[in-house]
Amino acid sequence: MQLGKVPRIHLGEYPTPLAELSNLGRKLGGPRLFVKREDLVGIALGGNKVRKLEYALAEALAQGSTTIVTSGAVQSNHVRLTIACASRLGLKTYVVLRGERPSVPTGNLLLDHILGAAEVHWVDPKGFATREELARATEARAEELGEDLRRRGERPYVIPNGCKPLHSALAYAGCVLELLEQMRVLDLAPDAIVTACGTAGTQTGLVLGSLLFAQGGIRVVGVSVSAKAEALRERIRQNLQEALRFLGLALPVPEGAIEVHDGYVGPGYAVPTPGMRAAVELLARTEGILLDPVYTGKAMAGLLDLLEKGVLGGAEAVVFLHTGGVPALFADTQFPAFLT
Ligand SMILES: Cc1ncc(COP(=O)(O)O)c(C=O)c1O
Repeated sequence: MQLGKVPRIHLGEYPTPLAELSNLGRKLGGPRLFVKREDLVGIALGGNKVRKLEYALAEALAQGSTTIVTSGAVQSNHVRLTIACASRLGLKTYVVLRGERPSVPTGNLLLDHILGAAEVHWVDPKGFATREELARATEARAEELGEDLRRRGERPYVIPNGCKPLHSALAYAGCVLELLEQMRVLDLAPDAIVTACGTAGTQTGLVLGSLLFAQGGIRVVGVSVSAKAEALRERIRQNLQEALRFLGLALPVPEGAIEVHDGYVGPGYAVPTPGMRAAVELLARTEGILLDPVYTGKAMAGLLDLLEKGVLGGAEAVVFLHTGGVPALFADTQFPAFLT
């Protein structure tokens, strides 16, 4: 199957802007730095989920689905954007959130309400030993909710948190093609793309795009926001194989093509770190660009450190993927980190 022939519903504004971080680049004195603004994709404060949802929702409509079910953390960007994109298509979204229900909804949760989530169900974190167990239980609750809706006469389509790996891979391979075209106009080509790595779907797509459209010549650097690097590398390897099979391609994936750094997570997922805060403030104060505290702030902390250590040595043009998430800056769990 050709990438361009996979059913997709156009929801975002493309190309998303590409801007040079001139002040930051000058300050650091290293390679030219660019930012690809996936946060400016044009729907409900944007983010990397929109491109993925264009494939997921096309599949949902093709199956004649009447409602969407999805799940995530309390401050899930994925959930916010699923509700927004589904609403655009006239579909209601039922949501399962993992975590304690706050007395006042802030950040993404407030937006979930404004965007019109049909129902929000909660999975209490008490009783789960690990975040992974809680996440699995939340996905299972979403499947149950889907079954329940089916019994109520709906035709639900369940979107896993972060979307299916295949949809993510196709979406971000397409983003690489878009980026190459934007840089070609500037007589440039990206040597490296740096991204936050959560479910690893985005990074899988970027690696796929590098292999498909740049002979693997774009180094894709993932900065984990949660999991260990080895687990993410394995997940990306499997996701890539699935995507290549789907596209009918037998491309070899060089061992070095999958690069994940896990030294910037700090104490855990969504727990603020000094490096994150410094990175968010630096981008805000040099470029007027807001990052988020959970994903792009930690990814930028990683990029800054890797540049300082010379790990990106030899690169002339480095692109930071702004994957969105800014509503979390306004979450009760996050903004205090910036006030001390
Ligand atoms: C703002 C933001 N950036 C990055 C990511 C990570 O993307 P992925 O799950 O594809 O690794 C997510 C989602 O998890 C996100 O919401």
